Amino acid sequence: MEKIKIAVAKGDGIGPEIMDAVIRIFEAANVPLAYSYIEMGKSIYNKGFGTGMTPEAKETVESLGILFKGPMETPKGKGVKSINVTARKTWSTFANRRHFRSLNGVDTVFSKAGIPIDLTIIRENIEGTYGGIEHMLSQDVALCRRFITRPGSIQVHRFAFEMAKKEGFKKVTCAHKANIMKLTDGLFLETFYEVAKEYPEIEANDIIVDDLAMKLVSKPQSFDVVVLTNLQGDIMSDLCAGLVGGLGFAPSANIGDNISIFEAVHGTAPDITGKNIANPTALLLSGFMMLRHLGYMEHANTIENALLTTLEEGNHTGDFGDKTKASLNTTQFADAIIANLGKVPSTGAARQFIATHATHKAPSKPRTQKMMATAARKPETIVGIDLFFESNQTAEILGPQLQKFEHAGAKLIMISNRGTQVWPTGSAFTECVDQYRARFEVKEGESTLADMLQLAQNVGAELFVSSVEVLRNFDGKPAYSLAQGQ
Ligand code: NAI
Repeated sequence: MEKIKIAVAKGDGIGPEIMDAVIRIFEAANVPLAYSYIEMGKSIYNKGFGTGMTPEAKETVESLGILFKGPMETPKGKGVKSINVTARKTWSTFANRRHFRSLNGVDTVFSKAGIPIDLTIIRENIEGTYGGIEHMLSQDVALCRRFITRPGSIQVHRFAFEMAKKEGFKKVTCAHKANIMKLTDGLFLETFYEVAKEYPEIEANDIIVDDLAMKLVSKPQSFDVVVLTNLQGDIMSDLCAGLVGGLGFAPSANIGDNISIFEAVHGTAPDITGKNIANPTALLLSGFMMLRHLGYMEHANTIENALLTTLEEGNHTGDFGDKTKASLNTTQFADAIIANLGKVPSTGAARQFIATHATHKAPSKPRTQKMMATAARKPETIVGIDLFFESNQTAEILGPQLQKFEHAGAKLIMISNRGTQVWPTGSAFTECVDQYRARFEVKEGESTLADMLQLAQNVGAELFVSSVEVLRNFDGKPAYSLAQGQ
C-alpha cells in the first residue's frame, strides 16, 4: 500500500512525549503513513518567526494538506497571536470537529449512572471573536468585533450535515444566542435552516446556547451533533470534555477543503512536561479522526479496539482511572496499547465508520485567494450613520451639542451608552462610561456615503470620534440593530 505523507509538528511541553507515543503505536500497527517533521511552536517564535512557524514548515503543510500536531505554547505578553488559531485561520480549516464519548475504564458521573455519551460538536473555526479584531475606543473601553458571515456559516453547517449523513447521525442541532444577537447569531441560525432543507432525512432543530449548557449536563444523551459559532463552540466543547472524563480524552479535527489539522484539545501541560507521565489518549483519538479522514478505516478500528481493550483492562495514566491500581507512564501506556493490537474489547468493538474520503489528494495551490460565493445582492440604501465618540459629558448636554451637526437631512435619533439608549429618553439609573454612540438617520435613499462621512468629519472636529458604522437597509429592511430601549 502506498504511504500517504503527512506533516507532523510535535509541539511544545508534553507535545513531543505524546506524539512519539502515538507515532510508535501507528508504526506498530503498520499504518501506511510517512512523516515529514516540521518546526512550529514556541522555539520558533523565540528564533524570531512571528507566526510561530518557519517558511519551510508552512510550505510543507500547504503541499501535503494534512498536519498532525501536538499542543503549542503561545508566548505571553509579546503581542504575538496564538499559532493554533493562526494555523486554523490561515489554512481555512472552517470546521472544528470534536467527538466525545464514554470510554470503558474512564469513570465519570454518567458512566456510573449507566448513561452512555456519544456526541459530536462542530464548531465554526475561523470567524466570531477569533478574528481577534480588538480596539480600545477610549482608555476605559475595549471593543472586539465579532464577524459572522453567510458563506462561512453555510460552509460549517454543510459540513455538519454532510458528516451526519455519511456517518449515520440522525439529528443536527444548531446552538446560538439569536434571541440577543439577532443579526450575527440570527444569520448563523437562518443559514442553518437553509442548509437543513437540503438534508430532509436528518432532523434539524435549534437551541439557545445557555439552555444547551444546562441540558448537556442533565441529558447529554439527547444530542447527536451540535453545531455552534466559534467561541460558544469552544466553551461548550470543553464542557463536553468534562462529561467524558476531562481533557485527556478530547480529540479534535480542524477540517478545511484543502488542508486539515488534527490535534488534541488540551494544551502543553507545563506542570507535567518532561516527566513521561502525560496521557496520550486525546492525541491518539485525534489520530483516529485523521486516519478515518484519510480513508484508513481498518487501521483506525484496529488501534481503537486496542485502546479500548487497554482501558477495559484498567490500565491508566496518572490523570484518570482506578487509583488503587498503579498508573502507567506514557511509554508504558503506549506499550500496553501496542500489546493489545488485534484484540477486541469484551464490551464491544469500536464503532464502524464509513469511508467519507475514497483517497486523500494533496492540495494543488490555488493561483489566488478564493472569494467565497455570496447571496444574490438585494437593493441597498443608506439610512444613517452611527458615530462612536468619547466624552465625559452627560447625555443631556451631548444631545443638543450633537443636534447642531444635523446635516444633509440627517436627524439625531438617539444617543446610547454601552448599547442602552440614554437620549432623548432613558433612565437616570443607567450608569455610563466615556464612550457614546450617536445615531443620525436620513430618509431612505436621500443621502450619499459622502454626506454621512462629512457628518462624521464635522462631529469629529468637536468630539473624538473613534469609529463609525454606516446604517443601511437591505431590501427595505434595517441591516443594523436597535439600541436597548430605542
Ligand atoms: P493544559 O491543557 O495544558 O493543562 C490543563 C491541565 O490539564 C494541567 O493540569 C495539565 O497537566 C492537564 N493535562 C493536559 N493535558 C494532559 C494530558 N495529555 N495528560 C495528563 N494531563 C494533562 O492547559 P493550560 O495549562 O491552560 O495551557 C498550557 C499551555 O498550552 C498554554 O501556553 C496554552 O496557550 C497552550 N494551549 C495550547 C493548545 C493547543 O496547542 N491546541 C490548546 C490549549 C492550550
